[in-house]
Amino acid sequence: MIDVFNPAEKPWIKPEGASTERIIEQVKKCPSGALSFYYDKDTPEPAQVTTDTKIEVSANGPLLVYGNILIKDAQGTETKKYNVTALCRCGQSGNKPYCDGSHIKTAFKG
Ligand code: FES
Repeated sequence: MIDVFNPAEKPWIKPEGASTERIIEQVKKCPSGALSFYYDKDTPEPAQVTTDTKIEVSANGPLLVYGNILIKDAQGTETKKYNVTALCRCGQSGNKPYCDGSHIKTAFKG
């Protein structure tokens, strides 16, 4: 998927590098939830998860939130997240409230 996601280049995401379906499949595999997507107004949203929301504390890492959630930031901007969302628990993320993997570099314990 280097045709779409290449951290060595700017911009590092080039959506024209693969089909929409292929990009969605790759984003759904993102273990941290840092990658996400939304459908435009003409495309129906995916089926909502009907099970209870589950929050899991990962050892020395983020809070993993399973299910459909709505995150509202300090400016009031709301973002819908689906499947799994990783929320920073170490305080070192450069993309709060989401985990960006900084807990590994700082050897977070908790
Ligand atoms: S828990 Fe991952 S960056 Fe903080």
